[in-house]
Amino acid sequence: MQATAIAHSNIALVKYWGKRDVKLNLPAVGSISITLDALSTKTKVQFDPNSTSDTLFLNGNESTGKELKRITTFLEMVRKRANLNMAACVESENNFPTAAGLASSASAFAALALASTEAAGLDLSENELTILSRRGSGSAARSIYGGFVEMHLGKNPDGYDSFAEQIEDKSYWDLRVLIAVTSEKQKKTGSTDGMTLSRDTSPYYKSWIGSSPADLNEMRQAIREKDFQKIGELSEFSCLKMHALALGSNPGLIYWNGTTVDGMHAIRELRQHGSEVYFTIDAGPQLKALCLPSDVDTVKKTLENIPGVQRVIHTALGDNARIIGE
Ligand code: PMV
Repeated sequence: MQATAIAHSNIALVKYWGKRDVKLNLPAVGSISITLDALSTKTKVQFDPNSTSDTLFLNGNESTGKELKRITTFLEMVRKRANLNMAACVESENNFPTAAGLASSASAFAALALASTEAAGLDLSENELTILSRRGSGSAARSIYGGFVEMHLGKNPDGYDSFAEQIEDKSYWDLRVLIAVTSEKQKKTGSTDGMTLSRDTSPYYKSWIGSSPADLNEMRQAIREKDFQKIGELSEFSCLKMHALALGSNPGLIYWNGTTVDGMHAIRELRQHGSEVYFTIDAGPQLKALCLPSDVDTVKKTLENIPGVQRVIHTALGDNARIIGE
């Protein structure tokens, strides 16, 4: 009745922002991401017939309140499916800052989906695991797979056609990401609240949804053709478009700090000097630079020299989520 799983975080090159159903956590747009080797969550789930309520330990500290509630709601789905009536102890460790735009919920819910279903004796396919992970966090569905991953929007109200699928595994292409950590504070507005606000108030919401299929088509094609420039340009476009949508909400959502903005300019300047590097940013202040292995040293040095950058994490592409023990 126990299992430990590891899942890697991911960053979207074509972003997800907006839900077509909040309760089932169905996205309003598809997305395409890459899975990141260096950022991972390890989660152990132990169902215990003697305990009466779920417990959660995050990086060694017991969590209660909202965080525990979110885990319990997720475990309820697993218990129902496995016909199980036992509380669980969940121990989860991230090797990166939680809730600061490094997509901790992605690796967290992918690892939880895998560990909890395994511990409950369910044998789910990867496709089913992506659908289950999505209920915890939209981007978590993509962390079930390594390499290049697409999350499908789907059409059905039940959400069973809203799943993630691997486009290519990590051996397809050695891309690198450098993450400039500019703040380790928890973000003020989580993605669910941010997405709801954008849907309800941003004048750009309709065009965001309408322009999404073209971005996805172009990104699929760029990956197929290994056209790095196209991938990079589309990533910046999708990122800035998502932030324009968020900034245009009322009240506007500003996920960046000054260092984030300096980083964007620094990356564009590097490009003018011949480095092939592009940025993307999620719902937080960290800047992620996408490049090829030959440019890693130059990009890393440049990012480290920007005042306000606390550290730079270098990562290659990561693997599928997997069971690593009892
Ligand atoms: O998975 P969520 O609900 O935390 O949303 C993720 C949203 C972004 O990270 C901003 C974009 C994305 O596609 O990952």
